[in-house]
Amino acid sequence: MTATRTNETWRTGEAPFRDRLSGEARRLLAGADGDHPGALALTDRAIAWCEHAGIEARDFTLLQAGTLGQRAPDPVPEACSGMIPPVARQGQHRRIDEYVLQTPWRTASRAGVFVDLGCGFPPLASIDTAEALGAHWQVIGVDLERHPALPTDADDQYACPEGDGGIRPERSPLARFATPSLRFVRGDVHDVRVGAIDVARCFNVLAYFDQEFRTRALAHLASQLKPGGLLLCGTDGTDTSAAHYSVYRLERGTLVQKEFAFGIDNIRPVTVVPFLSFHDGNPEMARLADVVAVLRADETFRRGYDAALDRILEDLRLCARAPDGTLGGVPPGTDDDDLECRLAAIEARLSVEGWVGEAIATLRRHGLDAWANCAGHVGVGPHAHDIRRH
Ligand SMILES: C[S@@+](CC[C@H](N)C(=O)[O-])C[C@H]1O[C@@H](n2cnc3c(N)ncnc32)[C@H](O)[C@@H]1O
Repeated sequence: MTATRTNETWRTGEAPFRDRLSGEARRLLAGADGDHPGALALTDRAIAWCEHAGIEARDFTLLQAGTLGQRAPDPVPEACSGMIPPVARQGQHRRIDEYVLQTPWRTASRAGVFVDLGCGFPPLASIDTAEALGAHWQVIGVDLERHPALPTDADDQYACPEGDGGIRPERSPLARFATPSLRFVRGDVHDVRVGAIDVARCFNVLAYFDQEFRTRALAHLASQLKPGGLLLCGTDGTDTSAAHYSVYRLERGTLVQKEFAFGIDNIRPVTVVPFLSFHDGNPEMARLADVVAVLRADETFRRGYDAALDRILEDLRLCARAPDGTLGGVPPGTDDDDLECRLAAIEARLSVEGWVGEAIATLRRHGLDAWANCAGHVGVGPHAHDIRRH
């Protein structure tokens, strides 16, 4: 039996995927045991996602098992008192910036006000976006008033890392990254006001929270967008890898979903990004599993895609298959930068080999409206998630 999903709550099936994992994968996953219930729920949700999406236990990588067992539990809300890590990486949303510049969903003037909600610290992705969009755009990074994950001194000043490796106390650490086209506002996604917004991006934020948080955030954002303005929300990894996101447009006071889009590297994921959600009910995680399930149930597509991905992983010397056929992890001695380059290369290679087109043709054969979007991702038609303006 495969995984079940009731009201977007993920539960693993009766023939547990977990028992079919390699001994090493189970050993790594056991790192989450005995921590917090949220860490175990995270693993359960991940495994249920794989079962629902048609991923086989032999294709669950040791990289995924190690991340879920050792690293992912850290930001589970009850493990860190709600302290969401402020991490933002350079180049992370490069393809989403391209999307904003070229999207057909915006017909208004091409420039405008772009807001990066939950921009992180240092705000590397907002800096990238300001550069990518150019001087005609005003980019505004928004993050919490006081970041619980950044240490402060007795005078309430943040300890900010300096280029020379030292630490400088600052009351407003984001302000020093401002440029004529980039500014920062301390605020909450539920009540921030920066004037009328053309495009809002909320990436790698909502997956940390429950659906009540998301509903309130979207309702507030609907009241802040210009008519025809866009809200992009979802999750991605390094260099926009494993991206999956919803695109909403404000139409007659309502946020209407125009597109759900995903990178071609989500179809048999190597990392945890596609199913890393800290609560049940994340709509992007659920929709991705549904679309991947359609693709993986098509035997011709699945065999071709899996063979191509196996070849690419072998070339990249990443997650090599063990003699028992199960996928491995990251070779010892690989540093984080090297790993990130290799992970980003997976999607590039699959795209060059034509798998975006193959996925679109397969989805259409199965009755879905699908297209290649302007970020080079697969776009599919909307789901009913209309949120009314307050
Ligand atoms: C994992 S970081 C993501 C940073 C960046 N968006 C990215 O994609 O790399 C999540 C950020 O969301 C911020 N955040 C959490 N709750 C928030 C809220 N209610 N309003 C605004 N930002 C929030 C956190 O402070 C943190 O910096």
